[in-house]
Amino acid sequence: MCGIFGYIGKKDAENLLIEGLENLEYRGYDSAGIAISNNNKVDIIKHAGKVEELKKVLKEKHLLGNVGIAHTRWATHGLPSELNAHPHTDILKKVTIVHNGIIENYLELKKEYNLKTITQSDTEVIASLLAIMPEKDNLEKIKNATKLFKGTYALAIIFSNEPNIIYLAKKESPLMVGKSGDDIFISSDANAFKKYCKDFYILKNNEFAKIKYNKIEFFNKSKKINKKINKFLNTFSFENKNKYLMQDEIVQTPDALRETATFFNNFKNIKNYFNNVNKIYLVACGTAYHSCLFGKKYLEFLNIPIFTEIASEFKYSKHLIDKNTLCIFVSQSGETADTLSCVKKCKCKTLAITNVPNSSITFACKKTILMKAGWERAVASTKAYSCQLLVFYLLKCLLKNEKAKTNTLIRKSKEYLNKLNLKSLASKVLNYEKIMFIGRQGDYITAKESALKLKEISYINCTACPSGELKHGTLALVDDKTLIFLISTQKNLISKNLLTKEEIEARGGKCLIAGDFDEADIVLPHLSSDLMPIISILPFQSLACEVSIQKGYNPDKPRNLSKSVTVE
Ligand code: AGP
Repeated sequence: MCGIFGYIGKKDAENLLIEGLENLEYRGYDSAGIAISNNNKVDIIKHAGKVEELKKVLKEKHLLGNVGIAHTRWATHGLPSELNAHPHTDILKKVTIVHNGIIENYLELKKEYNLKTITQSDTEVIASLLAIMPEKDNLEKIKNATKLFKGTYALAIIFSNEPNIIYLAKKESPLMVGKSGDDIFISSDANAFKKYCKDFYILKNNEFAKIKYNKIEFFNKSKKINKKINKFLNTFSFENKNKYLMQDEIVQTPDALRETATFFNNFKNIKNYFNNVNKIYLVACGTAYHSCLFGKKYLEFLNIPIFTEIASEFKYSKHLIDKNTLCIFVSQSGETADTLSCVKKCKCKTLAITNVPNSSITFACKKTILMKAGWERAVASTKAYSCQLLVFYLLKCLLKNEKAKTNTLIRKSKEYLNKLNLKSLASKVLNYEKIMFIGRQGDYITAKESALKLKEISYINCTACPSGELKHGTLALVDDKTLIFLISTQKNLISKNLLTKEEIEARGGKCLIAGDFDEADIVLPHLSSDLMPIISILPFQSLACEVSIQKGYNPDKPRNLSKSVTVE
């Protein structure tokens, strides 16, 4: 949540900062701002709304200079307004700061140090506190101030008495530095400067950096340190062919599956990690949680207890964790705070399944399986979900010594997506007041994921229900304003599902079946039952995207949400 970008070099900072913010906008988009040092002063421009709005302001009034910091926000403290947008300063403008994370004790600090503030943001308290720190050296000020914080932070700071230096501090929220020739870039996601740099540094918790022209120095709490440099992993190249990222990302699914399947060969040693495992917890949020529900099905053959848990619930529950328990954490971003906090709770075997190398969850877990879905920026997760299911399938094949059959999956998903056009179905969805997704067993999990996709980007209040459970309550909602998608990919359940369709239609509801047989309303390609879930979600991802577009929304940036949820 929220994106930080920074630049020091010989080029004009403004355009680079804006480009960086556009790359980071998936992390938050309710306000944005930049600060640039020029002639010993720091100029700030910020605006409520998307980066596009900030760009309009900058067309009228450019900020000159080669040193700058920038921020795109997802509001936690205070309304998404120009006043609460970052960068923030203290009242005398001695300190300019952008911040990701939350300082939980900001009100206590404000009171204790009698800080004068004008916004509702916790970040302003950080700037105000730094401005009154007694130390002469700015790095010492930061080290001592951060000792007082309870919470999480990634900070980029410019002091007006050292306007050509950017200081960094990090705890829990990600922060990275890239260098290319004389140009130095700072970002909360290295992908945002990947175009310019071949390698980059990752700040760890309680580390600091002092960056000036052509020079980066890193420190921990007590001394200067050397840091290892990280190379970007090669990912498949893809073109942006459509208006929206989400459309592109769905189309990229077959490539993402192919890359992930090939890359999985690097993780075959993980088999040994399953030796002596007596139970498994699968923990995640949102879409990644739905992939855990499938993960349980894939791993059930192990004949040990397997529990699936929503991360924000898991951390408050009591568990039977011992040294032979394996906790698997699934997260596209690898930064989800709810999931990360669970990893820290688990003193047992821990395995991350993520799409982002060097992310916080991969650092926190003892083992990692990395997917190669490519950069996923649309808030609604699509190709990453498909790859999460694939990883569980590959894990099952590995543990069972079975040959994985991914080629047909990749070919059929590509052929299917090439001819998929749900424009007319999407326009029909708009005629109904109530939308439901139902199914049995694995198809019910696909129903849950389909409902989440549709609600998060089209704001339609839809629900998922196991088909057999309909008559135990939810059927009362069904009338002629109800459209129900029944997912039916299991041969032995088709006749039961047809009965459910009749029950719905007898109450005036409309029921459309998605299945791998000719009579289905949405005909899916046929694959083995293990691989069907990876195919059967595709039409519903596309449908959600199309409904959102037809309703006039931007599916990539749904209201109130953010791609990477780094607050609990
Ligand atoms: C997916 O469409 C959602 N935006 C959301 O549920 C997401 O899957 C969840 O926040 C978990 O994110 P993660 O995979 O990055 O941990």
